[in-house]
This record gives sequence, C-alpha cells and structure tokens, in this order.
Amino acid sequence: MRLCRAQFCQEAECEKTIAHVEARLGVRLGESTAGGRFRVEAVYCLGMCGSAPGAMLDGVLYGGVTPEVADSLIDSLIGRRAGCS
Ligand code: FES
Repeated sequence: MRLCRAQFCQEAECEKTIAHVEARLGVRLGESTAGGRFRVEAVYCLGMCGSAPGAMLDGVLYGGVTPEVADSLIDSLIGRRAGCS
C-alpha cells in the first residue's frame, strides 16, 4: 500500500490515515507485515491531488483515503486474496 505524503495530501490530513494503517497492520512505513501480505510505503504524489489523500493499493489508485476508507480497502484486498487459491 502506497500512501502519499506530499503537500496536498498533507493538507488533507494524510498523516491520520498513515498512522491508522500502521496501527492496523502493525508495521511502520517501509515495512511489510509478517508473511509479506502487505507492504506500506510513503510516496510523494500519485497524481491524485484533487481528491487527496491519495493511495495506491495493489496497483489501483484511490482518492479520499481517510482511515475508514483505508480500512475498507484493506478489508477488500484481504477478501479478494482469501478467495484466491
Ligand atoms: S499530493 Fe498526494 S496525490 Fe498529489
């Protein structure tokens, strides 16, 4: 999961989302969860400035990534991966 920390996302309180994701997954930026299921990285602009805070998960861009939206994205990805065999 790539979380933007550039100017527009800072103004949209991306640090709250980043802190939430770190706590939820039990990792810090630049780290991976046990087993490598998730990796959390900071990036500096994803081109989603108009709908900050921006994030990329599994290669897909998202805007408006509040802590609640981040939870939903993580839940969705966990669900998709659980369905894979
Ligand atoms: S500043 Fe975050 S997407 Fe551009």
